[in-house]
Amino acid sequence: MVASRPRSLLSVADLSSGEIDSLISRAGALKKQFKLRRPSRVLSGSAVGLLFEKPSTRTRTSFEVATLRLGGSPVYLAANDLQLSRGEPIKDTARVLGGYLDVVVARVFAQSTLVQLATYSGRPVINALSETEHPTQAVSDLLTIKEVKGKLRGTTLAYIGDGNNVCNSLLLAGALTGMNVVVASPEGYEPEGSLIRRAKSLAKKNGGSIELVRDPRDAVASADAVYTDVWVSMGEEREQEARVRVFKRYQVNSALMKSAPRGAVVMHCLPAHRGLEITDDVLEGRQSVAWQQGENKLYGAAASLEYVAG
Ligand code: CP
Ligand code: NVA
Repeated sequence: MVASRPRSLLSVADLSSGEIDSLISRAGALKKQFKLRRPSRVLSGSAVGLLFEKPSTRTRTSFEVATLRLGGSPVYLAANDLQLSRGEPIKDTARVLGGYLDVVVARVFAQSTLVQLATYSGRPVINALSETEHPTQAVSDLLTIKEVKGKLRGTTLAYIGDGNNVCNSLLLAGALTGMNVVVASPEGYEPEGSLIRRAKSLAKKNGGSIELVRDPRDAVASADAVYTDVWVSMGEEREQEARVRVFKRYQVNSALMKSAPRGAVVMHCLPAHRGLEITDDVLEGRQSVAWQQGENKLYGAAASLEYVAG
């Protein structure tokens, strides 16, 4: 059953620090529950639409499986196969889908599409990645850090590379949970100023910190986790050549990991491009927790579905 007043998850900034803490704890609890094959009925009788404007392996599959494990039915909607691709406005699509679906999980280009989906469908909407954020990725990633480091508060996450959607959600999530987040990006590819200000103010309230540096070695010097993501996000393919040139110095490789504490773990939201943002030896090496992150997307998805279903 879904709540009568829909609660969406469009940005990590929609969450209070208490709410993100409970989402992460709930994701951990659902991991145990799912491993014991104990089903949940929280979405019993509910249809969860998965509207995707971009490709996805992990997010799509984890949300489909999470829906099934919670007793609901997933309905995959490739934007290219909908009348949206022939010009039907999102608000018309949303109004009609709202009559069929109980929850909408959407991967879109523009954040404003999510807002329109939520407004016109009247249903809870979960952001499954937009140009500006990837909130459910951050929930799963913080579960992973909590599992490997035993806590979040006071731990240091060094994000190396593009100040993109994944970076934005990690900054906000880290700030809400009292972590220290250090971002090293090349000039012109830093996270947006308004997001940084928001994260800094949240960090101040929650006992964490946000720092921007230029040199990746400075970022990793006291890191508990070193995180990277692609240099070229979906939709930026035309910038490939220029970006590969600009980001060269921002590769997570064994030389960079020598500047990090020995116990630091390496994280990547995947898909990874070996030889670009990360080297094969580091992704496959003893410090990598990328595959644990991948698995944890299932539990982050399930906790997010529970959260919006009330
Ligand atoms: N990490 C992530 O969102 O992967 P997908 O693009 O495969 O969903
Ligand atoms: N920043 C990447 C994340 C993919 C999961 C993108 O938007 O393509």
